[in-house]
Amino acid sequence: MTSTLPSTDQGASVTLPPDFTWGVATASYQIEGAVAEDGRTPSIWDTFCRVPGAVAHGDTGDVACDHYHRMEEDVATMAALGVGSYRFSVAWPRVRPDAGPVNPAGLDFYDSLVDTLLRHDIAPWLTLYHWDLPQTLEDAGGWTVRATADRFVEYAVAVHERLGDRVPVWTTLNEPWCSAFLGYTNGRHAPGRREGAAGLRAAHHLLLAHGRATTELRARGAETLGITLNLTVADPADPADAADVDAARRIDSLHNRLFLDPITRAAYPEDLLADTEHLGWTDVVHDGDLEAIAAPIDVLGVNYYRGDQVSGHPDAEPDEGQPSPFVGSEHVSFPSRGLPRTAMDWEVQPEGLTRLLVRLHDDHPGLPLVVTENGAAYDDSQAPDGSVDDPERVAYLDSHVRAVAAARDAGADVRGYFAWSFLDNFEWAEGYAKRFGLVHVDYPTQRRTPKASAHWYAELCRTGRLPR
Ligand code: NOJ
Repeated sequence: MTSTLPSTDQGASVTLPPDFTWGVATASYQIEGAVAEDGRTPSIWDTFCRVPGAVAHGDTGDVACDHYHRMEEDVATMAALGVGSYRFSVAWPRVRPDAGPVNPAGLDFYDSLVDTLLRHDIAPWLTLYHWDLPQTLEDAGGWTVRATADRFVEYAVAVHERLGDRVPVWTTLNEPWCSAFLGYTNGRHAPGRREGAAGLRAAHHLLLAHGRATTELRARGAETLGITLNLTVADPADPADAADVDAARRIDSLHNRLFLDPITRAAYPEDLLADTEHLGWTDVVHDGDLEAIAAPIDVLGVNYYRGDQVSGHPDAEPDEGQPSPFVGSEHVSFPSRGLPRTAMDWEVQPEGLTRLLVRLHDDHPGLPLVVTENGAAYDDSQAPDGSVDDPERVAYLDSHVRAVAAARDAGADVRGYFAWSFLDNFEWAEGYAKRFGLVHVDYPTQRRTPKASAHWYAELCRTGRLPR
């Protein structure tokens, strides 16, 4: 850790300014259920969940938190927390599964969600793509083909036409690194493809979709536009070891600069282009694409859960909690630092968040930052009276909010923080076993119970202050 950074000392009280946004976040496939209602068509996750062994315990999003039918109750619970903003995503397959007509019934749900939020004084923050690609588009090639970016822009415009009068903040994509590399290279996520360079091609089309939709929505008067990235802090295991330093550089290029550079400077990183030249993926980059990708944004969303310690020695002890291989990460391992871990087996490293935010501010001055996701899964248990005491989650959130405050003290322009997640939900390949919620969901009854962390967060939303 850089010694000049303010400490994230747990002992001092911390106060964020009154205009700092406190929110909670979710995503459509993880909470909605109702997968065959009101004209919704299958997404790549509906298909993937049916592949034997793809998702833990064979779980699916068919019912999830049944939020589609419990939206009013859920928003009321959220309002009781006192959050200022709710970050949710729209399910593309509810709106327009292909190049055909828009399904107005699919938009009705989001129309009433937005109205309900506004009635409760909660600002809607809309994400257009949180991984539920219509299966019809995957059948035509998915994110590895350019036409999917065209379809995305049309879909974005359709959603904006319906909701643009009431939604102030629009995020194009959530974590395109995951869509590209977990989806098309290592197959851990839908559509489960393992095709080497396909992840890089997908990344380009995702970025193109982002840039072109940003321009279209800007022209239509969208107030605040951005993208959410899952950036990492890649620390070399031994800063004096050339192989470790180079491995950290490669992870930084694939995880961070592959996305940041085209968005903010209309160029792919030179080192990444050199490292991946043998994969021949840049034939997908057409004249004008990089300029389209670099459409100005108003906010960069940062999702942060953990950092990565990186070794360039292939024989270094593999760490199960760290990323599975993706293209370009061959000969890289992620050795443990012996830090505490969450139920996801992810190391808890709050000071990495401070460093990440300060670096983003230094590298991209003038670009406002918002932590659009941060949170932790723990093995919560419900007491006989139904209550859920989750002190580890409170400690995790507390330490990361302090890390945000420290980044602000160091000059980073961080304007908001969204806890992941409002509710326990479908944690992708991990199914329902991993609980990230502030609010506990008893899946058989769909009963919601705010955990101790929800009460703690409500106090933070109310006061903007973390006591000593
Ligand atoms: C980031 C993703 O955006 C979200 O969908 C997921 O549940 C969390 N990480 C936790 O893994």
